[in-house]
Amino acid sequence: MKLIMLGAPGAGKGTQAEILSERLSIPTISTGNIIREALKSGTEMGVRAKSYMEQGKLVPDEVVIGIIRERLAKDDCKNGFILDGFPRTIPQAEALDNMGIAIDFVIDLEVSDETIVQRMSGRRVCEACGASYHLLFKKSAVEGVCDKCSGTLVQRKDDHPDTVKERLKVYHEQTEPLKAYYEKQGKLVVVQGQNDVEDTTRLTLASIGA
Ligand code: AP5
Repeated sequence: MKLIMLGAPGAGKGTQAEILSERLSIPTISTGNIIREALKSGTEMGVRAKSYMEQGKLVPDEVVIGIIRERLAKDDCKNGFILDGFPRTIPQAEALDNMGIAIDFVIDLEVSDETIVQRMSGRRVCEACGASYHLLFKKSAVEGVCDKCSGTLVQRKDDHPDTVKERLKVYHEQTEPLKAYYEKQGKLVVVQGQNDVEDTTRLTLASIGA
């Protein structure tokens, strides 16, 4: 199955993508994670992306389209994949269509801006493996320590409330129009994000008949 996770920053796309990935045995491709990795290892792309990301702006289309083209050509994508955080603009969606890839469903995760601002302040991520937690809703077994690799949990730079507001603004201006784009293609399914991860997962699975 070929899926796209659409939704505002912090709507829970990454959380749901991770669960679906295990359930359906297909890889998740997160442009955010790929860019953060590049940033950490100081590659040319990482250096270029840094200032955009830290200000809550989108990285230029040609950079992310290049990343996705390269990643989707890998063997593990043959039986399907979940795109988490791509596309985010109409030109990115058009580029994906032009790659000749037939997407089955675009899952639009709906969560209010107010809830998002609250959620982001509690998010913690592992600085070693990138796993995501929440101080209230998805606690690690030992506070501040990653369950998966024992790495240290930190707050993402772009989770500062002012940056979250900018990311939401960018989302409404540049990414939200993708809902109409995919609705026209008959691929959009809407999931109302719940306050509990498992409740959201039940709705997500039902929306794609899995
Ligand atoms: P990216 O990493 O993709 O960030 P994002 O879309 O802003 O999404 P997040 O990872 O912040 O949120 P999420 O929806 O995955 O939520 P999560 O599951 O973590 O991108 C970062 C930056 O990279 C962008 O700003 C941009 O600069 C650049 N970039 C990336 N892709 C790009 C592209 N295609 N084009 C251009 N630039 C690009 O959940 C959030 C928190 O809530 C977690 O703590 C989680 O535990 C908790 N939570 C999740 N679900 C629930 C629930 N149901 N109830 C309660 N808590 C929950």
